[in-house]
Amino acid sequence: MTDPTSGLMPDPTAGPAAGPWWRDAVVYQVYPRSFADADGDGEGDLRGVRARLDHLADLGVDAVWLSPFYPSPMADGGYDVADYCDVDPRYGTLADFDLLVAEAAERGIRVIVDIVPNHCSAAHLWFRQALAAPPGSPERDRFIFRDEPNNWQSNFGGRAWTRVADGQWYLHLFDSGQPDWNWRNPDVVAMFEQVLRFWLDRGVAGFRIDVAAMLYKQEGLPDLPPDRQMAYLVPDGSPVPYEHQPELLDLYRSWRKILDSYPADAFPGPRGTVAEIWFDDATRAAPYLAGDGLAQLFNFRLMPAPWSAAEFRAVIEDSHRLAVETGGSVPWVLGNHDVPRMVTRYGVDQALVRNPTPDVLLGRIDVDRELGTRRARAAALLLLALPGAAYIYQGDELGLPEHLAIPDDERQDPMFERTARTFMGRDGCRVPLPWSGAAAPYGFADRPVRTWLPQPGDWAELAVERQRADPGSILALYRAALTERRRHPALGDGDMIWLDLGPDVLAFGREPGFVLVANLGAEPITLPAHNEVLLASGPLDGDLLPADTAVWLRTGV
Ligand code: NOJ
Repeated sequence: MTDPTSGLMPDPTAGPAAGPWWRDAVVYQVYPRSFADADGDGEGDLRGVRARLDHLADLGVDAVWLSPFYPSPMADGGYDVADYCDVDPRYGTLADFDLLVAEAAERGIRVIVDIVPNHCSAAHLWFRQALAAPPGSPERDRFIFRDEPNNWQSNFGGRAWTRVADGQWYLHLFDSGQPDWNWRNPDVVAMFEQVLRFWLDRGVAGFRIDVAAMLYKQEGLPDLPPDRQMAYLVPDGSPVPYEHQPELLDLYRSWRKILDSYPADAFPGPRGTVAEIWFDDATRAAPYLAGDGLAQLFNFRLMPAPWSAAEFRAVIEDSHRLAVETGGSVPWVLGNHDVPRMVTRYGVDQALVRNPTPDVLLGRIDVDRELGTRRARAAALLLLALPGAAYIYQGDELGLPEHLAIPDDERQDPMFERTARTFMGRDGCRVPLPWSGAAAPYGFADRPVRTWLPQPGDWAELAVERQRADPGSILALYRAALTERRRHPALGDGDMIWLDLGPDVLAFGREPGFVLVANLGAEPITLPAHNEVLLASGPLDGDLLPADTAVWLRTGV
């Protein structure tokens, strides 16, 4: 057999990757309501995040992205923003936020915040003013009011329009508590510029842009074909009239100018944007990356993929090509607060991943947690070896499974009711983290408290404190991988060379002297020639790489 790693000689001149920090950053997503609860009310808060910053520093991440912590009635977990320039009292105060940014900076960690420009909350002052004003008024023009609705459906199920007292309807692509802004109104454009500056002035390193492709709607709001409704988390490639409108590119260019007006020569460095755009067709993503607009687009395409080397490889090839051809950055993502947790995704019958039955949508499914965890560990090594930036969702470093057994009357995600309880919603990946102890709330709060979503009874072994003491834990694996990633000149931004080790294997080399091999098949495979196993996601059997296991190898001289 020829040595598939030949040609991967180390390049002693290779230095740190050029380019802004975010091109190869590892960013940790904090969902504030579920990270850590300092005031003991059962919901996380900013003081809780501050108190646990050392967990993130130990893990070795470059930045945190905070999901929304702004004042909100919580119709959609805070993605219904009532005031873009403040902190919800349940999470603390602006002073807490400032301390968080400062204390994170002391640890070399940047803070990215979420900006939600497609919609606000029905409790936002401007929406309340719009309701109080007559049809045709300037106040109503900041939103999308019409005398007759079109046939669009909400991303969360049900109609995308709600009728107000005088008979007009307003558009909400999500919950009725989230009215869509009219981005053709200059007040809206100007307001968001102020919002960007407000947080940049407080030291943020950038923004995660929510629903970034939907801000502008096609003029005339044309009906959709009846068989072509919501495509939010499952894009199918065909455009809809509220996505990818050409005006977006100019808008993001103007935002980039604002970000670039902040000094880049000291911490946190150049300010970045990472856009939430679900695409399965790279040609749709390319225009955003090619210009001087968005810095990054999330790459969500591995999340819906079943555990299959062929499916993963197709996504990785296409996404990497997109990044190379545009010169853009498309950070890899395996989990977030909208998608079932990895351990559960990979621990179920993979035929059901793309074609879930009604029972699966309600979480009634057998999960092999041991198998799912083994695969999630291998996936972590894949994620952190791929070229470019990566995002880690809180709790994935602990191997948390999806909490499937939340009682119906404790579910909070509006998707549950809006889909007439046919989809369990996204609560199962948003459960408060276990930090320590034998029983709920597992140190999430330092007193017995009912957490805003219930925690399962068997999470003691997954708690941070337990895993820190166990060198074989998934937390230890993440820490080791992040340490190695910082140290190794081949990792982070750069290129990759595929190696062919069989149909069930993902294998690629990175210069200098690094190879990843992940066995997604059912049978062990022989490892290629190497000098050293740098890391393994599970026990090896001599030179055999068992099923559902990945390794990082040192190759070359
Ligand atoms: C994307 C967010 O990630 C999700 O949680 C939210 O429900 C929608 N955008 C609407 O803001």
